[in-house]
Amino acid sequence: RQRESQSLYQLTEKAADFYRQQLRNHPSAGRAVAYLRQRGLSGEIARDFGIGLAPPGWDNLLNALADTAEKADQLEQAGLAIRRQDSDGQTKPGRRHHYDRFRDRIMFPIRDQRGRPIAFGGRVLGDEKPKYLNSPETPIFHKSRELYGLWEARQANRDLKRLIVVEGYMDVVALAQFGIRCAVATLGTACGEEHIQLAFRHVPELVFCFDGDKAGRTAARRALEAALPQMQDGRSLRFLLLPEGEDPDTLVRQVGGERFEQLLDEQARPLEDFLFDLLGEGINLQTMDGRARLSKLAGPLLDQLPDGVYRQLMFQQLAARTGLDRATLEEVIGAEKARA
Ligand code: CTP
Ligand code: MN
Ligand code: MN
Ligand code: MN
Ligand code: MN
Repeated sequence: RQRESQSLYQLTEKAADFYRQQLRNHPSAGRAVAYLRQRGLSGEIARDFGIGLAPPGWDNLLNALADTAEKADQLEQAGLAIRRQDSDGQTKPGRRHHYDRFRDRIMFPIRDQRGRPIAFGGRVLGDEKPKYLNSPETPIFHKSRELYGLWEARQANRDLKRLIVVEGYMDVVALAQFGIRCAVATLGTACGEEHIQLAFRHVPELVFCFDGDKAGRTAARRALEAALPQMQDGRSLRFLLLPEGEDPDTLVRQVGGERFEQLLDEQARPLEDFLFDLLGEGINLQTMDGRARLSKLAGPLLDQLPDGVYRQLMFQQLAARTGLDRATLEEVIGAEKARA
């Protein structure tokens, strides 16, 4: 089992090398390099992130790395090749049984905490669909537990104090291009409890900076819920809400790195503000009904907070907003829990 993983690590590393080489040497590399330039990326940043190219064609990687059927099977296990299914479900003798998963895409290697490439995200160069293709789950890659850019952020900062959590590969890389080398992204999934756990293992402060669109707002709300049980005293969580239609990549290119940092410092909203704003949407606290609704919504959420001063302060906030005392809030929480 461990032996198997060993060879998957080696293979994925070789694949990352291969894709990087193709970005330098393949006849179609010019178009890929032009694409990266047009998105504002320098060669240095592309190198730091190990960005590569999966050339057009069905078997470039297979030809480079799999000279035996056994190795092709390993590439399949690594999520890099897909088994070919003929219409009769059989594979014809003498034909390759696999084809490359990633074709004609810019390749972003996803590294684990030791810097080993374990998976990839691949972006089309145009408007084709799907825009991004990600490695599937494999024995060495569990997407709910990895953060793109974490290893690179730790390499770039001796003393990492905060992480900016964004949605996309390009957001991480664009921020790095503007000198903000502490962004990480979830990998085509929602930011869940394990992502947040991993991030808090490295820094005490997280700033969520999701896209200014409906998906981004949903992601922020989910991340908030996943984070609540982990808000021990000493940790801080903030949310920078971007203008409609912007993401960190487009924004930093408009305003530059310094201004972006300033926005992070001055405009990211602390968890408590974000939470009460979110829950308070459409609720009129002047009415008893409104105050009742807020306590029913917020009570069970705040109850997720671990014991500590922060928890106490949050309940005080809720008490102040609803005019209910602590004992009554406890009753409300108990009743809501019983209902759920
Ligand atoms: N994503 C994905 N598959 C898709 C679309 C998106 O896995 N078909 C993931 C990718 O990790 C992507 C992130 O969701 O980076 C955010 O999606 P979106 O905002 O649509 O893409 P951007 O990262 O902004 O892509 P780009 O700037 O390259 O257009
Ligand atoms: Mn890991
Ligand atoms: Mn988006
Ligand atoms: Mn985006
Ligand atoms: Mn984008």
